[in-house]
Amino acid sequence: MDLRTFLNEKRLVVEDFLRLIFASFTTSPEVLKDAMEHSLFSEGKRIRPILALAVCETKRGKAAAVLPFACAIEMIHTYSLIHDDLPCIDNDDLRRGRPTCHKVFGEAVALLAGDALLTEAFRVMTDPRFSSQTPPAVAREILYEIARAAGAEGMIAGQVVDVLYDGKEGTKSILDYIHRNKTAALIRASVRVGALAGGAAPRELEQFTTYGESLGLAFQIGDDLLDAEGDEKIVGKKLRKDVTKQTYIKHYGVAQSRARLDELVNEAIEAVKFLGPSGEALAELAEFVGKRSS
Ligand code: IPE
Ligand code: IPE
Ligand code: MG
Ligand code: MG
Ligand code: MG
Repeated sequence: MDLRTFLNEKRLVVEDFLRLIFASFTTSPEVLKDAMEHSLFSEGKRIRPILALAVCETKRGKAAAVLPFACAIEMIHTYSLIHDDLPCIDNDDLRRGRPTCHKVFGEAVALLAGDALLTEAFRVMTDPRFSSQTPPAVAREILYEIARAAGAEGMIAGQVVDVLYDGKEGTKSILDYIHRNKTAALIRASVRVGALAGGAAPRELEQFTTYGESLGLAFQIGDDLLDAEGDEKIVGKKLRKDVTKQTYIKHYGVAQSRARLDELVNEAIEAVKFLGPSGEALAELAEFVGKRSS
């Protein structure tokens, strides 16, 4: 399998559906739509929705059953980036190769565009126009999964601790808490959502959960490594900015961070071995997370 083709195909499926969602915003102020589109329809890797689709596919689940949820996750992720870039959080002016939302639209509209993306994600997941292909009991379970991963015991918890420990000494266990929550929670949820939509059995769901958690942790180590060593033109965001932050590099150094990243990628691959040949795409996605340059 050619991973690049796989990623491109899935990215197009996700982006077409996101366009469909956007076409349903008929009465919103133009500036709000423009701000949401500026951040959403840019060079994102779409790794979270792609994971959801890929996992669902391994269980021969229908794409239509997972797609609205996969896109909702991408909307939530994009909102988190808009807010993360605001002057009161990371104060960044480049994202996905473009000026950040607040640089173009001002802080108030950027903040509100983030709010709108978050709220609309939940509409998409409950709007019969978009999510009628998923059995209601499964949809409800997926909604809970996503809300939990994105909220006060997940991504936002991680973001709060990230901000609180900016400029502080910190510890390895604080770092682990930040990574598990700000990044791994939503990646793990993306994988679990794919598994739930695909009808995975409880034992399989456990294996998928390990895959998602390992991949999520690996992903943030990769993000920390890119900040330390990546190429800004490829990554599409300002780098060498994490010097005051709790990062893997700060607590373990570059070599150990790389080693841990490789170890986590291998753990992820091991966890989906039970799938046999149909797990090939997931193994390749894990390798991609291990080697990514953006
Ligand atoms: C960046 O996420 C923020 C983190 C949680 C590390 P991505 O690296 O997935 O960003 P995009 O979506 O491709 O822009
Ligand atoms: C952000 O982590 C995680 C989010 C929930 C948005 P970072 O602050 O490290 O992400 P980047 O490096 O700005 O993409
Ligand atoms: Mg941040
Ligand atoms: Mg940031
Ligand atoms: Mg970062």
